[in-house]
Amino acid sequence: MHGRIAPANAEWIAEAGHLIRSGALVAFPTETVYGLGADATNGEAVARVFDAKGRPTFNPLIVHVLGLEQAKAIGTFSPTARRLAEAFWPGPLTLVVPRRETTDISELVSAGLPTIALRAPDHPVARALLKEAQRPIAAPSANRSGHVSATRAEHVAADLGERAAVILDGGPTAHGLESTVLSLVGTTPVLLRLGAVPAETIEQVIGEPLARRTEAGDVLTSPGQLQSHYAPRARLRLNAQTWQPGEAVLAFGPVADFAARTIINLSPSGDLIEAAANLFAALRTLDASGAATIAVTPVPSHGLGEAINDRLERAAAPRV
Ligand code: TXA
Ligand code: MG
Repeated sequence: MHGRIAPANAEWIAEAGHLIRSGALVAFPTETVYGLGADATNGEAVARVFDAKGRPTFNPLIVHVLGLEQAKAIGTFSPTARRLAEAFWPGPLTLVVPRRETTDISELVSAGLPTIALRAPDHPVARALLKEAQRPIAAPSANRSGHVSATRAEHVAADLGERAAVILDGGPTAHGLESTVLSLVGTTPVLLRLGAVPAETIEQVIGEPLARRTEAGDVLTSPGQLQSHYAPRARLRLNAQTWQPGEAVLAFGPVADFAARTIINLSPSGDLIEAAANLFAALRTLDASGAATIAVTPVPSHGLGEAINDRLERAAAPRV
């Protein structure tokens, strides 16, 4: 059944909801482009999304919800953010807002950022899937990293093949252009990505000109470009084979004798998907332990290891 294109009827949507709950990936249509969806609260399912896309870094994902009520449990909405959600949801506007401490959304979804991107899609299949799954769905565009977004089920199948348990076929998407991404984290809204909702339409709602981060494209190709990106206070020492007194240890795979140290093993069995799912929470916990240095044992650089190493190198880079 893997990779099969299925008609987006009630039976298949129910099956897809079940698959999401079981941690599998489901490709589904939205009014913009097709998404590759995973249970946003399941770190390993989210890690599989990055693995399937072959993305060399962890670019944060959009969390899809049914509406503002569900979104408010995940992020904090300022009056402006609320006004925008009321004006444009359901629809192709993604709002980046501060992430609630209490949310059970995987940290990998935000790539360690204290913020979260939320959108309520306006497509009957996407909405029915969200209802069946009974949880928020993290979904980037359903294409391999570096390829163009998929606007038809066949494009998803050609690009991601077996990686989605099922591809719900809702025909060609209406907009064929990704959602507009707007940050409401600072004092004024900032346009992060141009998309299906024109900037002027947003300006009419907020009554002021929008600050633009760029004139085109995905600006945040790398979360490391973000000033606010979570950076540990502790210094990271990569590829550590030995450790000094007082160091905390971030380990991967079977490691020998760490007696009585503050240690977190990302995956004792050496599973990169499990490691990716644990990475950001582990960094946070070790940082909070108060250690001045975190010694990190080597992580292989194949598969998700490339993105894990990218993030570790950024976290280890000298602060400016
Ligand atoms: O139309 C769409 O938005 C589609 C459908 C499936 O919803 N999704 C999509 O996702 O285009 P993706 O992953 O290809 O692009 C998400 C964009 C990226 O530019 C990412 O950097 C940005 O949203 N983003 C996600 N979370 C963010 C955050 N916390 N802060 C800033 N930007 C964020
Ligand atoms: Mg994309």
